[in-house]
Amino acid sequence: MRVLFVCLGNICRSPTAEGVLRHKLREAGLHGRIEVDSAGTGDWHVGKTPDRRTRLAAQRRGYELDALRARQVSPQDFASFDLILAMDASNLQHLERLRPSQGKAELDLFLRRYRLALDEVPDPYYGGEDGFERVLDLIEQACDALLVELEGRL
Ligand code: 4NP
Repeated sequence: MRVLFVCLGNICRSPTAEGVLRHKLREAGLHGRIEVDSAGTGDWHVGKTPDRRTRLAAQRRGYELDALRARQVSPQDFASFDLILAMDASNLQHLERLRPSQGKAELDLFLRRYRLALDEVPDPYYGGEDGFERVLDLIEQACDALLVELEGRL
């Protein structure tokens, strides 16, 4: 089972989701059975570590993102992954256009899939510190629901 999180830059929201889910999978003893990755629809930050504000906010909650490096999503990802989860509607639209006709991956909007208070994870890049905390709050809630789904699918 392979899960891919996608946002715009792959330096704020999707690496946060990758780090949080990895942490929860380890705690649940499932890290050997489910693979997790993240990517961006854009290529501006390819090869970079997550945004410093993202890394610090994550670290304060016990998530380590320093080893992650940004990459751009590719049509091949639709063959390699089972589930691709977009952070906002614009990311989802981009992925729908990129999707090859024979791509096997299921594609969905991350928060909407689990009926959280919002459908989209707001982009924190141009905002203040509280935006990064909000991203973590939403992603932690959605990852709890995703973990329940993944446990049921194994
Ligand atoms: P992300 O946030 O999509 O959550 O990684 C952003 C990162 C960078 C930019 C926009 C959003 N940017 O415009 O460079």
